[in-house]
Amino acid sequence: MTQQHPWGVMVEILGHEGISTPALRLRPWRTEDAVALVAAHRDPLLRRWLTTSLASGTEARRWIDDQSEGWATGVRFSFAILECRGKNGDAGRPVGHIAVTATDSSKTLATVGYWTSAEVRGRGIAGRALEVVSRWALGSQRIMPLTRLDLLHAVDNHASCRVAEKCRYALRSILPAQPPAFPRDGHLHVRINSDA
Ligand SMILES: CC(C)(COP(=O)(O)OP(=O)(O)OC[C@H]1O[C@@H](n2cnc3c(N)ncnc32)[C@H](O)[C@@H]1OP(=O)(O)O)[C@@H](O)C(=O)NCCC(=O)NCCS
Repeated sequence: MTQQHPWGVMVEILGHEGISTPALRLRPWRTEDAVALVAAHRDPLLRRWLTTSLASGTEARRWIDDQSEGWATGVRFSFAILECRGKNGDAGRPVGHIAVTATDSSKTLATVGYWTSAEVRGRGIAGRALEVVSRWALGSQRIMPLTRLDLLHAVDNHASCRVAEKCRYALRSILPAQPPAFPRDGHLHVRINSDA
């Protein structure tokens, strides 16, 4: 099944197998991604803005198991983001992550979170991945009856704020800090399913 992407590229929806664009491939995390995951998590910016930090192969593999469990139970869509290179569009190792996690028992509401590896930032990867996943999550998938996606980030995470704005996540409110987990105020951005 294919869908027209807002930038004019075809997006192929492959269910649990993955989502492809001509330049990016999104697919569920695999055990063999653990090394790339640990390498990405060495980045200070990831450590600064994420609540989860994966410092070892054991932690990474446990986290990947959790992602698989999320797919199996239908409460979390978690994708590794890979860049397709060369004539055959071969994908290398993951350069980012994006996940949609249900936040209510009826699975009509969910949060979306993402990161990209330090070496690929500023190339539109997070924005493209977020747009594709948002459209798919609020549109054609039939696993969760989602009507709204929430996106939260610290007020001074300006890159994440820009990614949210680019993907039409409207700023809904300022959330007060909740230390120690969330020491700074946050932005709540929202994108709704206009067909709902
Ligand atoms: C936020 C993050 C995912 C963005 O990834 P990315 O692949 O660089 O995203 P994109 O290239 O699609 O877009 C980044 C945008 O932020 C802008 N940006 C980057 N740093 C910025 C800053 N300090 N202030 C303002 N804008 C900034 C870029 O110019 C770009 O906007 P543009 O397309 O209009 O030029 C990445 O920085 C990251 O992984 N950060 C650490 C983890 C994190 O913060 N995750 C989000 C938690 S809520």
